[in-house]
Amino acid sequence: MNLQTFKTATTCVLMLLLGGLSSKAGEIEINISKRYLNFPVSHEVDRAEMVFQVDGKPDLSVVIRLAPDQADYWVFKDVSDLKGKTLKITYRGNDAGLARIYQADTLTGQDSLYRERNRPQFHFTTRRGWINDPNGLVYHDGQYHLFYQHNPYEREWQNMHWGHAVSDDLIHWQELPDALYPDELGTMFSGSAVIDYDNTAGFNTGGTPAMVAAYTADSPDKQVQGIAYSLDNGRTFTKYEGNPVIDSKHIWNSKDTRDPKVFWYEPGSHWVMALNERDGHSIYTSANLKDWKYESHVTGFWECPELFELPIDGNPENTKWVMYGASGTYMLGAFDGKVFTPEAGKYQYTTGSIYAAQTFTNMPDGRRVQVGWGRISHAGMPFNGMMLLPTELTLRTTKDGPRLFNVPIKETEQLFSAVRRWESRTSDQANELLDEFDRADGLRIKTTFKLSHATNAGFNLFGQRIIDYDLNSNTVNGTFYSPEDPTSMEISADIYIDRTSIEVFIDGGAFSYSMERKPHADNQEGFHFWGNNIEVKNLEVFSAQSIWK
Ligand code: FRU
Repeated sequence: MNLQTFKTATTCVLMLLLGGLSSKAGEIEINISKRYLNFPVSHEVDRAEMVFQVDGKPDLSVVIRLAPDQADYWVFKDVSDLKGKTLKITYRGNDAGLARIYQADTLTGQDSLYRERNRPQFHFTTRRGWINDPNGLVYHDGQYHLFYQHNPYEREWQNMHWGHAVSDDLIHWQELPDALYPDELGTMFSGSAVIDYDNTAGFNTGGTPAMVAAYTADSPDKQVQGIAYSLDNGRTFTKYEGNPVIDSKHIWNSKDTRDPKVFWYEPGSHWVMALNERDGHSIYTSANLKDWKYESHVTGFWECPELFELPIDGNPENTKWVMYGASGTYMLGAFDGKVFTPEAGKYQYTTGSIYAAQTFTNMPDGRRVQVGWGRISHAGMPFNGMMLLPTELTLRTTKDGPRLFNVPIKETEQLFSAVRRWESRTSDQANELLDEFDRADGLRIKTTFKLSHATNAGFNLFGQRIIDYDLNSNTVNGTFYSPEDPTSMEISADIYIDRTSIEVFIDGGAFSYSMERKPHADNQEGFHFWGNNIEVKNLEVFSAQSIWK
């Protein structure tokens, strides 16, 4: 045996002993043979840089709180694409945690996945880590894609990647490996995705049209816009070598230039990008997704732009354009492919936990379907944040003119079965009838109630105000709301209660809001209608099914 063979043989024995893992201070090497790498996380320790090198080449740099001993929870990296390769991990923190990283075909906690105590049962959440904005919502080849802001390494915001999940029906989701990883231009902030049917960017060399993602790369110095394409229905992306495609910090004298929302503008046969820059939404146009021309700017919007056309009352001959930012306020106006002209001030259609909602591109049936980030945490869980129910946005004529309505998409109906229905009850009667449902994990409740002696009335769950309707100051849960017919003295609500969240759709979607489900510890009332002499005109209870098999 020569020296080289001896060395290799010894390494192999060591590797076998360590399960394909060798280590020295501050680094380990792993021969990848399994699907996941599992990492212990402790919030007792500070974040430190962890660098991955694949077969000697730098691949990814993130920060993580590697637990030297007791872990609060475990996170993972899907390394199935690295099978047969050598992964070197270096860590600048306490390296006791390095030795605890292990590879396996399951992630730590796989047995209880989706059945954890505080796992939402009919909302999308990620298996591990943090999520915020939905990104790249697009339909392609029979699948809906939900990409999202994701920190795979901790349940707090950091290390932005694009996570990825797919669905056949917008309700049941399957989480896939992450789609976009931080690179030398920065971490992967929010953006959108389109299908380049005409191959305008030239990325498609074979048969299927390319899916092109437009995203922001965030670095300490600035935010620039990049594109990446996928020829395998979103499973893998290649970043365009000419990135960034927009670098506009010097123009705005601001770091805040981000969240490109791209769509095809049919009448002009060109691409449009709405991009949030400093104090509003800019419009850029392009023929090929690579070269972008600045066109115009509307001030007064922040983060996550949206711009789309909607028919009024379903009439395609009569449309308006809707522009919104991350916060749930919107403007109506006209758009000529280059300039959005608002016709009035801002309106609000939704509030509460929702933020950074985005709508799907390339919907097969032309509906405008939205998904919003639910800023909701789940006590004691190794994951954080969620996606709210997908909703359909429509413009409907009201006495004040056309307004945006927002209701859960019809596909959500499959999750709820009617179990009880009552009419015309006093609040005391209704409260008693609801007794048996107080502690249900998931429920949908529809109700209409009428005020006659009270200026305000509402509906609580263990002290938490699901509805607080004040007809004197015209507010619902603190936000101004005036119904189509205020003289009716009625309000109706469609309420979705999951383990950690509550979503409320008022009067057929004229206004909506969401909140964390937070029972008051000392309150024993359960479901509780309140308000002097109110009439509960309708009350329906539905049981809820889990979306996780
Ligand atoms: C909105 C936002 C975006 C940004 C992303 C970063 O929640 O701040 O503007 O791209 O989150 O995660």
